[in-house]
Amino acid sequence: MSTPLIEVDRLSKYFPIRRGPPLFSRVRHVHAVDDVSFAIGRGETFGIVGESGCGKTTLSRVILLLEEPTGGTIRFDGRPTAGLAGEGLRDYRRAVQAVFQDPTSALSPRMRVGDIVAEPLRATGTASAAERRAEVERLLKVVGLRDNAASAYPHEFSGGQRQRIAIARALATKPRLIVLDEPISALDISIRAQIMNLLRDIQDSTGTAFLLIAHDLAVVKHMSTRVGVMYLGKLVETGPSDALYRRPLHPYTRALLAAALPARPDDTPGPPPLAGELPSPLAPPSGCRFRTRCPLAGPDCAEAEPPLRGVGHGQYVACHRV
Ligand SMILES: Nc1ncnc2c1ncn2[C@@H]1O[C@H](COP(=O)(O)OP(=O)(O)OP(=O)(O)O)[C@@H](O)[C@H]1O
Ligand SMILES: [Mg+2]
Repeated sequence: MSTPLIEVDRLSKYFPIRRGPPLFSRVRHVHAVDDVSFAIGRGETFGIVGESGCGKTTLSRVILLLEEPTGGTIRFDGRPTAGLAGEGLRDYRRAVQAVFQDPTSALSPRMRVGDIVAEPLRATGTASAAERRAEVERLLKVVGLRDNAASAYPHEFSGGQRQRIAIARALATKPRLIVLDEPISALDISIRAQIMNLLRDIQDSTGTAFLLIAHDLAVVKHMSTRVGVMYLGKLVETGPSDALYRRPLHPYTRALLAAALPARPDDTPGPPPLAGELPSPLAPPSGCRFRTRCPLAGPDCAEAEPPLRGVGHGQYVACHRV
């Protein structure tokens, strides 16, 4: 097998925070991402799903080198990202771009769209002004914006159009990986499918890989080659998208899927819905982190942490009961 485009190995990110009264406070750690490993191949889409607060954005920020990992490594094209500086860091930032949930805060309100999209090109300093203008026109056309969009300001566009501008900017450096952190969840339901179709078309024509983060299991299913399910900073199940949706094995994946599916007309009992609150990531439960909400948990689940183990067909699950 050729080297994956990106390999994340045992990645962790803990945030230290002070708790308790002054003088008696002590530092505790939010276990936002804990020992997460996966790889994304060239041109592939890896989807990540999980409840709010499970660490999806933190994981993406570590991959974007916006946060230092607490532990673990990232390799891009076989090369470690630790210690990247100067030209190496600039190359990485060109190769790995991002589109975030809220296009309004991601776009500077005082810059014209043409300048926003040209900014990454200007930063690299390789093109002339005329070349940049032509490239901006091309990119705006790729994302389906009107001809004179370059001279307008972001507020003149709708939410969906602003997300198209953010996508055009991400494409400017011809990235090999785009991190999409909830790219449609802030948009009107009526235009979500259009943006997903646009992303898919872009992937078909450019071969860019995606790390697609979403709450919505349906979004991830239709876009992703493989999917990872996160719970309290950990990957609890991962596998090819069709296998994972057809045969979800982890009780958490099953609960997520059951919650996302409409009630069954024939009244066949599905897995029970997810009960209880998400435990604090400051003090995750011992052993299996999901045990406090798991319908299958037994006393042993409090003792050992279940490792992610292969169950065939590329599917991996971290559960003592599977
Ligand atoms: N800078 C920070 N300092 C302290 N804690 C943080 C920081 N950033 C994130 N966290 C905590 O880390 C955990 C994971 O947060 P994160 O934003 O990665 O989750 P998420 O899965 O993206 O959630 P959402 O679906 O709501 O976007 C949360 O408990 C969050 O409060
Ligand atoms: Mg998030």
